[in-house]
Order: sequence, then structure tokens, then C-alpha cells
Amino acid sequence: MEVSEIGYGAWGIGGKQWLGGDDDTSLGALRRAIDSGVNFIDTALAYNEGHSETLIGKVIRETKSKVYVATKIPPKNRIWPAKPGVPVVDVFPYEYVIESTETSLKNLGVEQLDLQQLHVWNPIWFLQDEWRRAVEKLKSSGKIRAFGVSINDHQPESALDLVASKMVDTVQVIYNIFEQSPERWLFPACIEHGVGVLARVPLDEGALTGTLRTDTKFEAEDFRAWYFRDGRLDEVVPRVAELEAATQAMAGTLAQRALRFCLTHPAVSTVIPGMRKNSSVDLNCAVSDLGPLNPSELAVMRRHVWLKNYYA
Ligand SMILES: NC(=O)c1ccc[n+]([C@@H]2O[C@H](COP(=O)([O-])OP(=O)(O)OC[C@H]3O[C@@H](n4cnc5c(N)ncnc54)[C@H](OP(=O)(O)O)[C@@H]3O)[C@@H](O)[C@H]2O)c1
Repeated sequence: MEVSEIGYGAWGIGGKQWLGGDDDTSLGALRRAIDSGVNFIDTALAYNEGHSETLIGKVIRETKSKVYVATKIPPKNRIWPAKPGVPVVDVFPYEYVIESTETSLKNLGVEQLDLQQLHVWNPIWFLQDEWRRAVEKLKSSGKIRAFGVSINDHQPESALDLVASKMVDTVQVIYNIFEQSPERWLFPACIEHGVGVLARVPLDEGALTGTLRTDTKFEAEDFRAWYFRDGRLDEVVPRVAELEAATQAMAGTLAQRALRFCLTHPAVSTVIPGMRKNSSVDLNCAVSDLGPLNPSELAVMRRHVWLKNYYA
């Protein structure tokens, strides 16, 4: 599959964990992204229980262009991220993997999923049978074309066996200016074994857009109220200001530079920013014209690595 380097991250348009949007605006942004050349969308059954998939299904049925859609099977126990020691039968048993895929096919209104992914991963499941048998069945029956795993937050090394095994066509991993650790082991392994990489959360849930302030407030039910909880904006905002100052001579807005950072790595197949507004779509689709960072720009950005895990 030849996917666009700018993909569409469709968590936000689910509308349950990201508030402040509406379906009409989301549908408009999706259509605009496709019209601007985006041909890859990442969603999940869990994004408001199929609502994100349903919106995408509507848009892909309207368009004449081929749009590749990736979705995900939620953990049966509904625990994100996967907890150590939990057996695969509690999370991705055979029948459940099949049923979840059937539900996504219905929501999207398609006969085949271009890419089906496990929404969490635990390396102890690597040799366990349930998910493997289900994936083989889904591929042999033509229900899915490709299969991948969305790696647990900030644990890129947990998928190294998987990547070397050729059981996966893709991995999805957090990769952005702050979180650079996939570069160490995961990305070289993906290049060596021909595994595609979906770079997720490229804007650190909005932090790397430079639009957050120390007094930014999110609605209580908005995921970002939790992610940036307990005064975290007081540490995020000064770091982003330093990054902005250090990179201001580089082309693009801060968000565009952050996407360029992701796309500069040769292992990255597509970067999937969330973008509910037309203005975000336009800026992000323009990134391809700006091209990759040069080595000295990259060196400046690399200094802004920041090891943290706000999902914990
Ligand atoms: N476990 C998993 O598998 C997992 C977990 C998290 C995310 N993901 C995937 O990764 C995708 C991306 O992550 P994310 O959506 O959580 O966060 P993100 O892409 O890091 O950030 C999204 C935020 O950035 C804003 N934005 C985007 N482009 C912008 C621009 N050019 N200028 C200013 N603001 C801009 C968006 O605004 P608007 O929306 O208002 O336009 C939104 O508030 C998700 O949508 C999902 O597909 C997967």
C-alpha cells in the first residue's frame, strides 16, 4: 500500500474523549484531508464505540479516491495500556478478535479492512496462540489485508520480537520531538524487516502545537484535562517555548516542524496527527511541500527530547 506521509488520526472525531468538536466539522475536515491528498486514516472501534469508524465509512463511500483505513481491536478487558502479567485470553481471545473485526467492517461499510491492529500490546503474548490464530483466519478469509500492533505508550522495545517475527505488517508507536526512543531499536528493526511505521501522537496531544498556555482549561470529561492534569502545563509550556525559540528560523509553524521531525526519519511510513479543524488539515497537508529537516535542523530538535509518561 502506498500511503500518504500525512495520515489522518481519527481519535478526536470520535467526539467522546476529545470535546469541543461536532460531526459536521469532523466530516468537513475528513473530506478536506482526502481532497488534499491524504489517503490513510487511523481509527479504532473504541473511539466512541464505533462513532469515528461510522463517520469515516460515510466519507470513504462518497469519495472516488482509494483511501486506506486502519482500525483497532479494543482490549476485551478495556484496560489501556495492557498490564503486565494479564493473559491474552483476557484481552484478545480468538472469537473476540474475529467479532470485533466484523463490527468494524460493518461500521465502516466495507468488505475488507486495509489494516487491523491490536490496540494494546504486551510482549508476553508473543508466543500465545489466540490472537495469532485469529489473525491468520482474518487474513486467509480476506477480512483484513494487513495486520499490525499499536504499541503501549512509551514502550517501543516491547515490540521488537514481533517486528522480527514478520507476524506484523505495521507497528504504531508514539514518536515526536519529546519521545524519540523508537529511533534506538524499534525503527532500525522495522527498516530491517520491512515493517511499516505509523507515528502516533506527533503533537504530544496538542502540546507541540504551541497553542497551550499555563491557564488553558479543558472540560472535565475531555481526555486532555487528565493528560495535562496536576499542573503539568506549567512544565509543558516553558519547554515548548524553548523549542519554539530554538526552531523559529525553520520553515513552518511549530506544529508543522513537529510533523517534519517525524517524517524525516526513514522508518516512518505515515504520521497521523489528529485534526478536526479545516485549518489544522490545511497546515498539516502543506507539510509535504516543506520537505524533511536538514541535519543541522534535526540536531537542534533532538536536543529537546523529554522523557516523560503522562499516560501513567
Ligand atoms: N493507543 C493508540 O493506539 C493511540 C493513542 C493515541 C492516539 N492514537 C492515534 O494517533 C492519532 C494522533 O494523536 P492525537 O490525535 O491523540 O494527538 P496529536 O495528533 O498529537 O494532537 C492533536 C491535537 O493537535 C491539534 N493540531 C493538529 N494539527 C495542528 C496544527 N497544524 N496546528 C495547530 N494544532 C494542530 C489538533 O487540533 P484540532 O483537532 O482541533 O484540529 C488536536 O488538538 C490519534 O488521532 C489516533 O489515531 C493512537
